[in-house]
Amino acid sequence: MIIDGKQISQSLKDAMKIEVDALAEQYGRRPCLMVIIVGDNPASRSYVRGKIKATEYCGFDGHLVELPEDVSEATLLAEINKLNNDPLVDGILVQLPLPKHISEDKVIAAISAEKDVDGFHPENVARLWLNQHCILPCTPKGIIELLDQAGVEMAGKKAVVIGRSNIVGKPVAKLLLDRNATVTIAHSRTKDLAAVCREADILVAAVGRAKMVTAEFVKPGAAVIDVGINRTEDGRLVGDVDYEAVLPVAGAITPVPGGVGPMTITMLMRNTIECFLNRMNNK
Ligand code: GUN
Repeated sequence: MIIDGKQISQSLKDAMKIEVDALAEQYGRRPCLMVIIVGDNPASRSYVRGKIKATEYCGFDGHLVELPEDVSEATLLAEINKLNNDPLVDGILVQLPLPKHISEDKVIAAISAEKDVDGFHPENVARLWLNQHCILPCTPKGIIELLDQAGVEMAGKKAVVIGRSNIVGKPVAKLLLDRNATVTIAHSRTKDLAAVCREADILVAAVGRAKMVTAEFVKPGAAVIDVGINRTEDGRLVGDVDYEAVLPVAGAITPVPGGVGPMTITMLMRNTIECFLNRMNNK
């Protein structure tokens, strides 16, 4: 089975569009997401376009704030502070990576935790690991949603996550653990990685290397979630999984593009609604 992230994402956005109209009616305003981009990295530009497009599609307020590559850290922090204090702004996202002269840690920490729609703020990260109410990071949240929608059971299953980044590997492992999977976090230095992965009922690949996961990594019938975004020499977008080789072995698999990617943006929309509701209900 191919898990169609694009289609699942579309139906979730259609439902949110209707929900947002009802929220506007009930609360007298729409959820508002502000996206900040610094410089003109083409990949970041393209991601941000997708985020703004989804914001408009779902009927949110908000827009893009464009700052030049050489903007000072102080100016960026002042812009964030202004949005933190704006009662009509529910979500703030600063597209990463940032230019070298700006501290990403400082920027992430400067965003008010209750408006941190990415779920990157240390307070949200801590709350996730403490099982407290928090904003979940979008990609891990999207992966769990895909598994749910595809009817993949997590409780009692073995999950292997390849990759230990703060944005994907570690939080997705925590969310799988919360769904009662038994989780192994593997990485590039894991000995006999293929054998470790072959134990998995659910395999999540988030390493950033094309065709790293071959058929010998996959237990027959396993669910394979490909979080990779890699460019081939001829400019095609491919994941971390050797898709053609793994497809006949896997029980379920997410394609790239059209798998996890669209879900990340959709969960960003979901988080914006949650931030709006938390703020309107003063939680
Ligand atoms: N750059 C790549 N992915 C992301 C993301 O999910 N959020 C932000 N803010 N920047 C990113």
